[in-house]
Amino acid sequence: VDAILSAAEEMLVSKGLDRTTTNRIAERAGVSVGTLYQYFDDKEAVFDGVASRFTEALAAQTMPLAGASEADIATQLQSLLHATAAVTHQHPGLMTALQALPSEAIQERMTRVRGSLIQRVADWIRAAGDRVAVKHPEHTARHLMLLIEAHCAALTGHTEARLQSIDSELHRLLDLRHAPPAGTPVSELPTPCLVLDQSRLDSNLARMRQRADDLGVQLRPHIKTTKSAAVATHAVGPEGPLTVSTLREAEYFAAHGFTDLTYAVAIIPDRLDRVAAITASGVRVALFVESVAVARALVDHPGTFDVFIELDCGEDRTGVQESTALLTIATLLHSAPRCVLRGVATHGGHSYGAHTHAERAAVAEQERRVAVEAAETLRQAGVPCPEVSVGSTPTAVHAAHLTGVTEMRPGVYTLGDLFQAGIGSHTLDDIACSVLATVLSHRRAAGTVVIDAGGLALSKDRSTAGRPFDADYGLLADAHTGAILPGLRVASVHQEHGMVTCTTGEMCWDRLPVGSRVRVLPNHICMTAAMYGHYHVVLDGRLETIWRRTNGW
Ligand SMILES: Cc1ncc(COP(=O)(O)O)c(C=O)c1O
Repeated sequence: VDAILSAAEEMLVSKGLDRTTTNRIAERAGVSVGTLYQYFDDKEAVFDGVASRFTEALAAQTMPLAGASEADIATQLQSLLHATAAVTHQHPGLMTALQALPSEAIQERMTRVRGSLIQRVADWIRAAGDRVAVKHPEHTARHLMLLIEAHCAALTGHTEARLQSIDSELHRLLDLRHAPPAGTPVSELPTPCLVLDQSRLDSNLARMRQRADDLGVQLRPHIKTTKSAAVATHAVGPEGPLTVSTLREAEYFAAHGFTDLTYAVAIIPDRLDRVAAITASGVRVALFVESVAVARALVDHPGTFDVFIELDCGEDRTGVQESTALLTIATLLHSAPRCVLRGVATHGGHSYGAHTHAERAAVAEQERRVAVEAAETLRQAGVPCPEVSVGSTPTAVHAAHLTGVTEMRPGVYTLGDLFQAGIGSHTLDDIACSVLATVLSHRRAAGTVVIDAGGLALSKDRSTAGRPFDADYGLLADAHTGAILPGLRVASVHQEHGMVTCTTGEMCWDRLPVGSRVRVLPNHICMTAAMYGHYHVVLDGRLETIWRRTNGW
């Protein structure tokens, strides 16, 4: 079959439709006409086979990109376009020849594949968001496709030259602002920027996956910390499960192919339409409900909702605090035709206030017990409660066991920060995300080095204040290796200035010349990262790629 298709393809391109007969195809393929008819009904069927082989090869080019949705848009688009160009080039003239065939089925097939490639490119341009200056992604994608076709339909010329001209067109169209190329040393990245150490991230993710396995529960990471589809994919794969803290996150992750989300903030009725729009696209979005009034609003809404009843296990933030409300909400939801009561959920956020590992373990046990007992109360009342969801980073790390629990939702563990290191959720060397900054000035008399990361770049989070591990506004680390620079910390901040002091003797001016780069490890990474649209992902001191994150509500 392959020989017949190749012969047909060659003749179609070189001799044209009229001179390509089944006899000639068979002859060129070195088979008898009888053999050809064993596999194909007629000439049309042979051409359809040629078109299908070609379009499948083209369509396959979009596949390698599927899992890496947040990788550097330029590299990704480039490889998509190069691969498309290469396939077209391997079959010179075929695209034009096929497009000229009178067969409607072949035309349809070509249009579909071409359309999906254009769509794919347009989606990628859209995903690049503010990093590219493209007003109409669809037009740009179409333009790039035409460019490939024009280059590849021609039989003459060198492939490399064609690819280069596609590249320069791509760069012209995408105008990749602020995007240093992969391989750029950390010391040359624009500052302030968010640096994500890929190997530390990977080991943090693996450690928590192992922890969940050991505890016998599903891991549903809270993605409020990273807000990045690329990180989420590394954490749990391309579909989830994930926990989100805003509807913006829910929409972003749904748009990136994640299908199993829990929105872990008490829902209010005026957000239900927005939730329903996400679930209508086939994505599961479980909600947190903690009041009878809101449960009624859910029941009355025309949408279909998955629901967890949120419990307060001692943090005193939100969540049901007594069993009458629990049972009223559960009964309402259980009997509602369009609601699915998935279970109960709680968050032991007061673990952050604990001062010893024993106290953190006690909060973890309280979190577990409150959730498991609530689930039991529901079951005894005849209301099914399949899922029991708990979680915070400290309780996930310090829980002695999670008997009766089905999933946990830690979030900060992904990137880590000084607070988590201080309370023993991980070590200082596990902090995967930091702010890269440049030394602006030496204030010798005051013993201060000034960097370009101030309150906006670092956040003014002072959660470490009053704790034995107080780090003011952040500890300094080597720009290249990420190793802590002993004694150096950001003692105070202005909006765009960070004032670095040395707590262990004299400032080492030579170590931090004006213009040099340093990393600042953050107190609370969720707050720090929120000011940035991208992660500069680094490995061995060099830029690997850029991952986008979403922000806002
Ligand atoms: C409901 C809920 N679940 C899980 C988490 C994740 O916990 P952590 O931030 O300690 O990783 C949070 C964090 O605020 C939360 O509010």
